[in-house]
Amino acid sequence: MIILSGSSSEHIAEKLDDFSKGQKEIETFPDSEKYIRLLTNVEGKECALIQSAIDNNALIETYLFLDLLKDMGASKIQAVIPYLAYARQDKRFLEGEALSAKTILEIISQRSDSITVVNAHFLQEPGTHQFHGIQMQNLDATPLLARYFRKQVEDPVFIAPDKGSREIVANAAKQNDSEHDYLDKKRIDGENVEILPKNLDIENRNVVILDDMISTGGTMVEASKALKEQGAKSIHLGCVHGLFIKGTEELEEQADTLICTDTIEQEQSKVSIAPLIEKNLR
Ligand code: R5P
Repeated sequence: MIILSGSSSEHIAEKLDDFSKGQKEIETFPDSEKYIRLLTNVEGKECALIQSAIDNNALIETYLFLDLLKDMGASKIQAVIPYLAYARQDKRFLEGEALSAKTILEIISQRSDSITVVNAHFLQEPGTHQFHGIQMQNLDATPLLARYFRKQVEDPVFIAPDKGSREIVANAAKQNDSEHDYLDKKRIDGENVEILPKNLDIENRNVVILDDMISTGGTMVEASKALKEQGAKSIHLGCVHGLFIKGTEELEEQADTLICTDTIEQEQSKVSIAPLIEKNLR
């Protein structure tokens, strides 16, 4: 199999030591349009494209790259999309809204033979899923985060900041022989959340809050405050996808540690998802 990476996931492909890497050129024209040229012959070969769709530009690159592999005669194309943009618009929450996640995945599925994602926001469990007739494999990176904290933090208790993350956090904690619990969250709007009153047994404990993503940071900031008020000894924050769209200052003020995986490459990417991808590609 030949591994190719788009510009947002080169750091992941580099860690996949046992696979041969395809060569390419990716440039951005002055008007921000993308240029891709494949320098490796992929005719009749199985290929995997690793590319986090972190924004609209990365999405366009994904489409162009998948089409190119098809045009150049790859025998099988696996689309590995560690971060899937638009995954929060998986439903028509209001009449007339675009079903963005479906559109994105349809375009990708038309250009590939299989789709692998990591903690896609609308999939709460790992494994094979069907979404509007599109099959995809969802990998769960939270056990890797839990393993990191198990080594760094003494006797941690893992907390999910809302019911949506409850199952994956419980599973990640169990895999790492640790206790777990969850908070109840009410979303007020896109930027503001409220953590509902709930007493947890965390007094004087080292608390690790795990979530699939940190976007504005509102969820983690409010969860940290609530747990500190309940007497947590230390607060550690971990997420799979670190978007940090409002920066990390407020998060770092509230917590002792802030880390994410490298589905989106950040300074806080202390855990790589490469082993997860490698296992999946084998
Ligand atoms: C919600 O369902 C998700 O698991 C995250 O809690 C949420 O998307 C985080 O967003 P923010 O950082 O903007 O609070």
